[in-house]
Amino acid sequence: MVTGAGSGIGLAAARRLASDGARVVCVDINTATAEAAANEVGGLAVTADVTAPDDVARIYATADEQYGRIDIALHNAGISPPEDDSILTTQLDVWRRVQEVNLTSVYLGCQAVLPYMRRAGKGSIINVASFVAVMGSATSQVSYTASKGGVLAMSRELGVQFAREGIRVNALCPGPVNTPLLQELFAADPERAQRRLVHVPMGRFAEPTEIAAAIAFLAGDDSSFITASEFLVDGGISAAYTTPL
Ligand SMILES: NC(=O)c1ccc[n+]([C@@H]2O[C@H](COP(=O)([O-])OP(=O)(O)OC[C@H]3O[C@@H](n4cnc5c(N)ncnc54)[C@H](O)[C@@H]3O)[C@@H](O)[C@H]2O)c1
Repeated sequence: MVTGAGSGIGLAAARRLASDGARVVCVDINTATAEAAANEVGGLAVTADVTAPDDVARIYATADEQYGRIDIALHNAGISPPEDDSILTTQLDVWRRVQEVNLTSVYLGCQAVLPYMRRAGKGSIINVASFVAVMGSATSQVSYTASKGGVLAMSRELGVQFAREGIRVNALCPGPVNTPLLQELFAADPERAQRRLVHVPMGRFAEPTEIAAAIAFLAGDDSSFITASEFLVDGGISAAYTTPL
């Protein structure tokens, strides 16, 4: 299961998991991009809003019906709207919308998939958080950051709770990734973009394929002893005090 499979990290993950042999359910709120992704990877497209409990229940029921089991759940759909900014200016409706899409969706997804994985006695859940869950930023996106902190803490707790049932739950924390989500944000404000880029030791953003490679690792048995982790794939950003010139 890949949510937000129509674009960016989700699309790269759908491609990578399919090439590794998975049958991929491509979920997106955008029907056209979900279908394009599913067609490309030979998977199943499902249009769904990950903030709607009925939709989330339906995507997992459909996957179970179609394929008989669910091995991997990648809860990746997320938003980062420009109106989510400093706490001094961010409106309550924006705060709530970001919490719904980025955090409540992960709660709903985990709640919906766990019964299938418990039945099978195995599974890997990967919840996409962000490096901003572990670092503070003066170019604030207050609700986004708080939502990702929530994803991180919830994933840790579920990883611990279900560890003896063969179900692993990890929070994947990417650094800045070259996707439409980030490109839109940076196009809106080049100065803030530059302020962020200077902190990345590698001096560049990640490519979606690099995040997909980490997802494939967390999804498969090579990571069989890794659970409840904050899995940073961030080009060294969270370890840096100063960066190379
Ligand atoms: N791009 C980055 O720099 C970066 C860094 C760290 C974490 N992340 C996280 O990675 C995840 C994917 O980001 P991306 O950069 O690939 O974004 P993206 O905008 O390229 O793709 C997100 C996808 O999610 C879908 N989506 C949005 N709301 C949805 C909803 N309610 N229901 C179903 N689908 C919905 C969109 O239609 C889109 O296809 C997000 O959780 C994001 O916060 C991104």
